[in-house]
Amino acid sequence: MTIGKIIDGKAFAATLRDKVADGVGAFVEATGRKPGLAVVLVGEDPASSVYVRSKGKMTAAAGMESFEFKRPDSIGEEDLLDLIEELNQDDRVDGILVQLPLPRHIDEAAVIGAIDPAKDVDGFHVVNSGRLATGQEALVPCTPLGCIMLLKDELGDLSGLEAVVVGRSNIVGKPMAQLLLAESATVTIAHSRTRDLASVVHRADIVVAAVGRAEMVKGEWIKPGATVIDVGINRVSDTEDGKSRIVGDVATAEALAHVRAITPVPGGVGPMTIAVLLRNTLVAAHARAGLTKPAGL
Ligand code: GUN
Repeated sequence: MTIGKIIDGKAFAATLRDKVADGVGAFVEATGRKPGLAVVLVGEDPASSVYVRSKGKMTAAAGMESFEFKRPDSIGEEDLLDLIEELNQDDRVDGILVQLPLPRHIDEAAVIGAIDPAKDVDGFHVVNSGRLATGQEALVPCTPLGCIMLLKDELGDLSGLEAVVVGRSNIVGKPMAQLLLAESATVTIAHSRTRDLASVVHRADIVVAAVGRAEMVKGEWIKPGATVIDVGINRVSDTEDGKSRIVGDVATAEALAHVRAITPVPGGVGPMTIAVLLRNTLVAAHARAGLTKPAGL
């Protein structure tokens, strides 16, 4: 039995961060200032806090300016909107990222809608999702853009391939489908109401799993030779030693016997998200400075 390839997202992300750091050097020479990324964190969700700290470190390591704004859970929507407006006006800030989810009393769509689309490095503003959907230049959500980079690196031309995206979130599933469509793949979006998910997944040359359910996509669902991108990050308790571990949305060990290639969890898509965020910030900085997009990014 042949075993599929494990796609090294960690190494790919490190290479991308190096390219971004080179681009940052050239930007500083051209403009006399560093690109800046502002991250807004509301509340104290431990996972979000870890993630934001890691973003801050990697931003600085790439030679960019990192600005962090922590606000309590109790912040009112108006105060948060005021902060966004300040960041929109601040010329040192090229990218604004509001960590999601926000507390329930805050209207997420209103907050995202208040971000200057030119600084929307998450690509969540409707202007950017509309541009992506209509094939115009856009800032594109980091995780799906990272997935497309890995897929093109593995498969080259995606044209005509059958792609199934499992999950329909605004952050991953929908933009992922748009990016695959832009690459001329034949795209299906499956979700929790899809009938006979196993046979839908079995059609696919490319499977992107982004449902947030531990090991839901079974190995035998995968068509022999398909490439699988696992976006899931699920913490499960391991009954054997009582500790918890992180698994994806795909039953990886089973799938390995079927796939051409698959991203592992951890070490697959995860490291790509921050690397692409840095890339988007550099791209936004160039556009704001009236410079052409750096080559190779
Ligand atoms: N929460 C989970 N993923 C993301 C992301 O990509 N961006 C933001 N802003 N919040 C998130």
